[in-house]
Amino acid sequence: MLERLFMIRYAIIGHPIAHSLSPLMHNTAFTALGVDARYEALDVPPDNLRETVRNLFEQNYGGFNVTVPHKESIVPLLDALDVDARIIGAVNTVVRDHGRFIGYNTDTIGFMRSLEPFYQRVRNKPVAVLGAGGAARAVIHTLLSNKITHHIIVINRTFHRAERLAKHFASERKTIEVRPITKTAETILQSSLVINTTSLGMAPGVNASPVDSSGHFHNDQVVMDLIYTPIETKFLRLAKTGGATVLSGLEMFLRQGARAFELWTGKQMPLEEVRKVVEEKLREQ
Ligand code: ATR
Repeated sequence: MLERLFMIRYAIIGHPIAHSLSPLMHNTAFTALGVDARYEALDVPPDNLRETVRNLFEQNYGGFNVTVPHKESIVPLLDALDVDARIIGAVNTVVRDHGRFIGYNTDTIGFMRSLEPFYQRVRNKPVAVLGAGGAARAVIHTLLSNKITHHIIVINRTFHRAERLAKHFASERKTIEVRPITKTAETILQSSLVINTTSLGMAPGVNASPVDSSGHFHNDQVVMDLIYTPIETKFLRLAKTGGATVLSGLEMFLRQGARAFELWTGKQMPLEEVRKVVEEKLREQ
């Protein structure tokens, strides 16, 4: 009983959230390292966001992850932001520090580590970013700050959101091109790196994809999906059929999680052990 009083609670908030493997990832790591903590998934519709953050604070949560669709709307509800989160304008990890909730963005390091093996292949080449939410912002910031490329084209269903994102990064003295969603196929064809940051194709909506034909892909391309449930989305299947090198969101998921874990506990996540458990779960699904 005494032990339970000291158990630290963590969570992920999002909507929908049922398919998230973050609880499995973090609870596996807590158990492996003997950390007395518990991580849970909370389904939080947009209207409940403010109240949920207040509850997590009052209930002494040690921190939490933030996913679709809250990565940007969480920002004004936090006490302070780490420098990357401030530049990006989106948060995926919150840490309780001396009675304050501080926002971080560990998607940046997740994306960077995941793309590292392909840096040379895509350097200074055109990149298509599909989507203009918090994940897209983290991706664009990482591409610019690591000088991978300045040639970025953003496509989003809600055009003005893409324009707002482009304006946001123009402050870094870079121009980001914005195109309407009707130009998706031709933009993909012209790009050496294509990144899907939208939730299209994520379980349970696995039959959705930003494009419906493999004809937009070619073998001089790296195509990445930030979705990891399923491990191979319809979008990646089409890209593979079209000859592209494909990269699932699993690696980015693990790496962003490992950094969040480190921020919360000061400990390294046992990555290989966690990877095995998560991969096994994904294969079962
Ligand atoms: P995150 O912060 O994780 O990126 P988000 O801010 O909710 O999540 O962004 C989700 C992205 O997926 C957005 O670009 C969204 O497009 P809109 O800006 O038009 O909402 C995109 N998205 C989600 N569902 C979509 C759908 N059915 N068709 C096309 N784009 C979709």
